[in-house]
Amino acid sequence: MESTHPDVERVLFSEADIKEIVGRMGAEISRDYAGKDLVLIAVLRGAVVFMGDLMRAITCPLAIDFMAVSSYGEGAKSSGVVRIVKDLDMDIKGRDVLIVEDILDSGLTLNYLMKSLSHRKPASLEVAAFLWKDVEGRETAVEPKYVGAHCPDEFVVGYGLDFAERYRNLPQVGVLKPEVYS
Ligand code: XMP
Ligand code: MG
Repeated sequence: MESTHPDVERVLFSEADIKEIVGRMGAEISRDYAGKDLVLIAVLRGAVVFMGDLMRAITCPLAIDFMAVSSYGEGAKSSGVVRIVKDLDMDIKGRDVLIVEDILDSGLTLNYLMKSLSHRKPASLEVAAFLWKDVEGRETAVEPKYVGAHCPDEFVVGYGLDFAERYRNLPQVGVLKPEVYS
C-alpha cells in the first residue's frame, strides 16, 4: 500500500508508474542521442525532480544546466512572455539541447523560451515533458518530442510540482482536495 499525503484527493501517478515512465523516456533518449553532444536544460524549479531521475535513466554522455524564468503579468494563466532570471552557464551553440519540463500546459512559456534559445544556434532543440496537459480543442504552442504521460486538465502536485511552493517533495503526482485551495 502506498502512503499518500492527507491533502491529496487522489493519486494520478504512483512511484512505480513514475519509475516506469521515466525509464522508458530515458531509454528512448539514450537511443536517439547516442554519439551526439547532449545538454539537458531544466527550468527551475518544478523540473528538478524529473531532471534528477531522467538524467540517471539516460546512458549516453550528457551535460546539465538550469534556467530560471519569471512570468510577466498577474494571474494563473500563462501569458507566455517571460523574463530570464537565471540564464544558462553553458554555451549551447552547436550542441544538442533537450529541455526538461515537468508539465506542459498551454506551452506558451516554453514556446517563448525555445525562440530565445534558438537564437544561440544549438545543433538541435527539443523538449522532454514528464506530463502533457492536453485539452481537447486546444492547441499547445510546443510539440514535445518526448512525453511521459498525458494528464487531465486539473491542477496537479507532487514530483516537483507545487501549490504555493508546497508538495514538491511528494513522490507521487496527485490532485489536491478542494478544501486545500480555500
Ligand atoms: P504553460 O501554460 O506556459 O505553463 O505551458 C506551464 C507551467 O505552468 C505550471 N503548471 C502547473 N504547475 N501544477 C503545477 O504545479 C499544475 O497542474 C500545472 N499546470 C501548469 C508549471 O510551472 C509549468 O511549467
Ligand atoms: Mg513551474
